[in-house]
Amino acid sequence: MNNATAWNLGGRTAVITGAASGFGRELALVCRDAGMQLVLADVDEAGLAQTLALTGLAPARAVTQRCDVSRADDVDRLARLAQQRFGGAHVLFNNAGVLAAGPIWKATPQDWNWVFGVNVMGVAHGVRSFVPAMLDRGEPAWVVNVASAAGLLCPPDLGVYSASKHAVVAISECLHHELAASGKPVGVSVLCPSFVDTGIADADRQRPASLDDANPEQAATIARIRKATRGGTLSAAQVAQCTLEAVRARRFYVLPHDKVVPAVAQRLAALIAGDAPVDARASPR
Ligand SMILES: NC(=O)c1ccc[n+]([C@@H]2O[C@H](COP(=O)([O-])OP(=O)(O)OC[C@H]3O[C@@H](n4cnc5c(N)ncnc54)[C@H](O)[C@@H]3O)[C@@H](O)[C@H]2O)c1
Repeated sequence: MNNATAWNLGGRTAVITGAASGFGRELALVCRDAGMQLVLADVDEAGLAQTLALTGLAPARAVTQRCDVSRADDVDRLARLAQQRFGGAHVLFNNAGVLAAGPIWKATPQDWNWVFGVNVMGVAHGVRSFVPAMLDRGEPAWVVNVASAAGLLCPPDLGVYSASKHAVVAISECLHHELAASGKPVGVSVLCPSFVDTGIADADRQRPASLDDANPEQAATIARIRKATRGGTLSAAQVAQCTLEAVRARRFYVLPHDKVVPAVAQRLAALIAGDAPVDARASPR
């Protein structure tokens, strides 16, 4: 792949997890507009059906599958579906994600298991289930891991979420180096948005009953996140558009919100100076 030319995605296949809502739904729409075939996955089957209807695509170009990304077998099944229906994935969006909040010493084992199961293992399973076939095929292919500005900053009361998103950034950076060393035309981007109006503040709606023992003090932070997302400066559609442009341009870091960059610089300056960390509540997520 020549880095100087934009990648024409027409006729290629996008696999999108968390496609029933928010960024995932908007990614489906921008990928449709790019002429791609779609494999849409989520635990929310009703939401998936709504996304499919919004795309207006016939079964020959789009398919949905229930998939819990925290389950290795589910993600393997998704990869098999993409292979059988469309010959495999050209762009994989590891987008599904959930949020838990509250002081880290009150985070429950279930908070950690749920958030790391979806946000971290979901990405790990996506990489394991899809990347080998991308490398074997030898054609241009791409992975987009959806992290967060909270993967670059460390805001208080978002410790579990932030730790999971830092892990997504780390997975993505390691994957970038490993793919570069493979010599194959396969790459990765990591998306790190700030607050955007989606369903993320109501992530508990998909929380499994077996893991429903949440941090008893998360409500105030969740309410603050809900307010911040509703006041977000970019829409989910704009973030999706910006993400697809980054894929076309083969850009690694995707930071759609300008304010995140100085906040990251401030964090790194404190680290380099040996100072205490800056309170990221003063910065965007
Ligand atoms: N909205 C924001 O402000 C914001 C900012 C930074 C990063 N993000 C990240 O963006 C990604 C998408 O979230 P969103 O903001 O669109 O929220 P959203 O709640 O609208 O969408 C998340 C989707 O993930 C699905 N999901 C939850 N658990 C799942 C599982 N186990 N398996 C498969 N799907 C599952 C949900 O059903 C939902 O459709 C997440 O990774 C989130 O952490 C969001």
